[in-house]
Amino acid sequence: MTDTMAWDTYSQKKPARRETNAAGETTWFNWTQYPDHGPGAEVIGAGPGVSVLELGCGKGGNLAHVAALGARAVGVDLSAAQLDAARERWDGPELHQREAIDYLAGCGERFDAVYSVFGAVWFTDPDALLPAVRDRLSPGGIFAFSQRPPIEGCYGCQASYINRHDDPEPLVVKRWDHTPETWAERLRANGFTDVTAEVVPAPEGDRRTGTLLVRAARCSGDRG
Ligand SMILES: C[S@@+](CC[C@H](N)C(=O)[O-])C[C@H]1O[C@@H](n2cnc3c(N)ncnc32)[C@H](O)[C@@H]1O
Repeated sequence: MTDTMAWDTYSQKKPARRETNAAGETTWFNWTQYPDHGPGAEVIGAGPGVSVLELGCGKGGNLAHVAALGARAVGVDLSAAQLDAARERWDGPELHQREAIDYLAGCGERFDAVYSVFGAVWFTDPDALLPAVRDRLSPGGIFAFSQRPPIEGCYGCQASYINRHDDPEPLVVKRWDHTPETWAERLRANGFTDVTAEVVPAPEGDRRTGTLLVRAARCSGDRG
């Protein structure tokens, strides 16, 4: 079973995004696992004239909002099933079925922002991913991602389980969990600056885990 097949399986059980959010909007940006919660697209500065790449865009809900804000919105995902669902629902984004590092290495384009919401950044070895993202960002460009915070003491490469309807054995993909402090160190070591890495708390009164949200900029003097 390849990661692509695992994510196609995930796609079958992942429900489509709602038609509208609590504010009645048809597109919106959500960094967290909770509806109508947390910051929005201002984190990446999406707007007219800005080029934005999402790594692991899935069914494309966040990317559709980036496109609706007037930005060039490019999405990459391993899973054909996820991208089929995105194409069926949204017109705006440009979508590619590719592995994230593969795409970054071959696209030959610079982006003003690269982001990932519980997406490929979580499921790719940061030693390979962080330099690949830096190389595709314009000087001063923004890199941001969200994922679940690590379980205390469980750091580095971890197993992530994808359950199947018809089989008690889950599928397994790798993910990389680090503390906010470790993400900040790694980003600085890879040529990023202005790093913030923090846990956005779950909605008030909800005792579940928060969301790790990391944001950094490519050094503006770094024109390599
Ligand atoms: C948990 S889903 C999140 C999807 C979407 N960002 C969202 O918020 O709904 C993870 C997505 O990342 C994609 N993915 C995982 N590893 C990837 C990789 N190395 N390259 C490209 N896409 C990847 C999967 O196919 C899947 O669509």
